[in-house]
Amino acid sequence: MKKYNMIAPCIFGVEGILADELRRIGADDVNAENGRVLFSGDASMIAAANINSRFAERIMLNLGTFRAMTFTELFDGVKALPLEEYISVKDAFPVKGWSINSQLHSIPDCQSIVKKACVERLKTVYKTNWFEETGPVHQLQFSIMKDQVTLMLDTTGHGLHKRGYRANSNMAPIKETLAAAMCDIARIYPDTKIFDPFCGSGTILIEAALMAKKQAPGLRQHFAAERFSFIDEKVWSEQRAAAMDKILPDIEFRAVGYDIDPECVKLTLENAKKAGVEKYVRAEVRDVKDFKLPEGRTLVITNPPYGERLLDIRAAEELYKTMGNVFPQEQGKKYYVISPHDEFEKFFGRKPDKKRKLYNGMIKCDLNMYFK
Ligand SMILES: C[S@@+](CC[C@H](N)C(=O)[O-])C[C@H]1O[C@@H](n2cnc3c(N)ncnc32)[C@H](O)[C@@H]1O
Repeated sequence: MKKYNMIAPCIFGVEGILADELRRIGADDVNAENGRVLFSGDASMIAAANINSRFAERIMLNLGTFRAMTFTELFDGVKALPLEEYISVKDAFPVKGWSINSQLHSIPDCQSIVKKACVERLKTVYKTNWFEETGPVHQLQFSIMKDQVTLMLDTTGHGLHKRGYRANSNMAPIKETLAAAMCDIARIYPDTKIFDPFCGSGTILIEAALMAKKQAPGLRQHFAAERFSFIDEKVWSEQRAAAMDKILPDIEFRAVGYDIDPECVKLTLENAKKAGVEKYVRAEVRDVKDFKLPEGRTLVITNPPYGERLLDIRAAEELYKTMGNVFPQEQGKKYYVISPHDEFEKFFGRKPDKKRKLYNGMIKCDLNMYFK
């Protein structure tokens, strides 16, 4: 079985969680770096990672790495790669990429050199001067970091955070991959009772439900690599069947969402239905000041409003104060609150047992954890 080197980009702060997940899925040579995890595996690992990963943004094949400081070196480096092992004569192979701290910094120029080098390589192999590119899209992506070039092939297509349940979303939804990471940190079990008092479009509750059921997030999604001729079709059906087998049919898990906005409550219920977890998710209109947890073990994971303008920041701080009042400090009650506010704990009124840095898009946040 041919072994592929792969790269899974992820949200900053999630690298360790993703590395553990990829090991569980069956990856070899797993190595976490800043904002990405490197790993290897055969063709079934390409399918398994796309179908099962909750934390990766996409799964890329690493086609080769070399050093380049001039356009000639870039051209020669790309032309030396065995592209024909991945790209057939009719396939489309668009190129995009980025460069950081490198001699070669003009992206449009690098893009056209990489494309020309690919064409030259494939011309020689396929003995043709013209590529119609009408076949499946093989998105190539180069990265140039400190003059080190890596050429990658995207196996995912649309990002893995798009699970298919959130066509509808409110103004400030949290990314599915980040919500899943917060759930992983807080630990979700098949009998967890989770609450989100600022549920918005329901992302945290839905990701928690999928995790509790052990339902792979990509089970109903399709991926670019399903149309790649070098991957046997049966690899995908085998991996989907294996993921189906892991789903727990009956769990005691319950998720409850509240939001002050009736539209958000409606969205949460609609999205839960789309995700196939409506049986476990309840949502109601409620102001956080009226939030009340039931007796017993409960978990709150939430993403309250951030407030971007000064007036909104003051309002967000008032909400943090209210949360401090309505989140009782009791045995069996755990709270995980993501916030970019440096002084969250001052307004909330209690120092978190632990904090963890996570990025919500470009915004640096802390996951404030209260679990003792
Ligand atoms: C950052 S969004 C949450 C987004 C959510 N995690 C998602 O993925 O869609 C914050 C939510 O808090 C709600 N909200 C604002 N003030 C509130 C209050 N006083 N009580 C309850 N919900 C409130 C807003 O309507 C909004 O949906």
